[in-house]
Amino acid sequence: MNNTKPTAGKPVQITIDGKTYECPSFSGTENEKAFDIGKLRDQSGYVTFDNGYANSSPTTSSVTYLDGDNGILRYRGYPIEQLAEHASFIEVAWLLIYGELPTQNQLNQFHADLEANSVVDEKFIKLMDAFPKNAHPMAVLTAATVGLSTVYQNECDPGNKEHTEKSIRRLIGQFPSLCAAAYRHNHGDKLVPGKKGVDYCENFMHLMYSKDGSYTVPKEIVKALNLLLILHADHEQNCSTSTVRLVGSSSANLYASIAAGITALWGPLHGGANQAVMEMLEHIQKDGGDIEKTIAAAKDKNSNFRLMGFGHRVYKNFDPRAKLIKKACDNVLTSLGVKNPLLDLAKKLEEAALKDPYFVEKKLYPNVDFYSGIIYSALNIPTEMFTPMFALGRLPGWIAQWKEMVDGGTTKIGRPRQIYTGYTARNFKPVSERG
Ligand code: CMC
Repeated sequence: MNNTKPTAGKPVQITIDGKTYECPSFSGTENEKAFDIGKLRDQSGYVTFDNGYANSSPTTSSVTYLDGDNGILRYRGYPIEQLAEHASFIEVAWLLIYGELPTQNQLNQFHADLEANSVVDEKFIKLMDAFPKNAHPMAVLTAATVGLSTVYQNECDPGNKEHTEKSIRRLIGQFPSLCAAAYRHNHGDKLVPGKKGVDYCENFMHLMYSKDGSYTVPKEIVKALNLLLILHADHEQNCSTSTVRLVGSSSANLYASIAAGITALWGPLHGGANQAVMEMLEHIQKDGGDIEKTIAAAKDKNSNFRLMGFGHRVYKNFDPRAKLIKKACDNVLTSLGVKNPLLDLAKKLEEAALKDPYFVEKKLYPNVDFYSGIIYSALNIPTEMFTPMFALGRLPGWIAQWKEMVDGGTTKIGRPRQIYTGYTARNFKPVSERG
């Protein structure tokens, strides 16, 4: 059942300084257990400390289930493997946002709504000229996304359901054009109008590469893109999604919340890893292809280098998305007749890392970003556009999580505590008395 309330359990007893406190406990539909420490500070004077929120859940959610020990990922209960094989990205977007797979009528209507809302205001696109020619597309995309809230500033009240439905369609409808506009801006090209009556992914490729409208997108490319976007569509409370929720918890509008998610995604430890993997592989190749040297550098505690595309906070066995992408990589390159020596290099690097005790003991496996860039390259998507592609895929997940929070109406403003470690009180000295 969707949106089930957590099941109450026995209170958990915590003894601090000889005194016992009771915290309410509950479990979710997959028996994940939690206890609520919300009142613990008032009762005991203690807060909990959890670096990087590694063991904290600020919310319950019925959008996505992830079991990191067993490599399981499900959207609204459906295994990612089934969705990747049978669904379209827009079907998955609907599923994430509204909780059920769409009927044919709902799907047709959603496509029609997205098309009807796909045109980006011409004046707004001109704003992009203010950015330098080599601007990173993630910066441009962030600015453009929050900028949409200025175009629709009378229709983005998070408390108004009609505004939210419009914002959802405007965001998903216009995002492909915004990504393509950011790319084209750097190449001195103007954005072309979208193609009507075609698949979302086909339209995206048209927006990116069509010069005169005559560009035909090969079916293999549409299929590969559809797969990649589905695999990126949601991943429960990751860094960018938590950012979207945190910003949204202050009642900021959907555009502002999503723009914050885009900036969080940009970092190389999160979505920016796909660009970093490609740059790492190119560097290794230029450097003579020395895999042992790369592995040694990743293990060296005195170097800042990490094996990009490896490791995950939650997956400790394998990342099911990486498994699907690795398989797709071979298929896509073969069907498009593309040969990329970086694929062989990536496979050798993976093999070497998976045999190395350092990676085995720390349970570090290839993640979603390890092979995705090789497919994007085969689709002719340049390296600096890899992370915007991740954002295009993640958009429905961010929206679904934001909507779940806003519709639920019980989320408090996100406002963590801290343990202060600075100076204790001291008196101000005029500048003439400072040494
Ligand atoms: N290369 C070398 N060592 C690593 C790596 C790596 N890729 N990842 C983790 N470690 C080591 C780390 O140094 C630490 O060692 P020690 O316990 O001796 O200090 C141990 O493994 C645990 O790492 P952590 O940083 O505490 O783990 P985390 O859960 O905080 O970080 C991570 C997860 C994904 C940020 C990290 O594994 C990483 O930096 N990976 C490379 C970047 C990357 O591929 N990011 C994409 C993540 S998946 C998609 C997404 O989220 O967008």
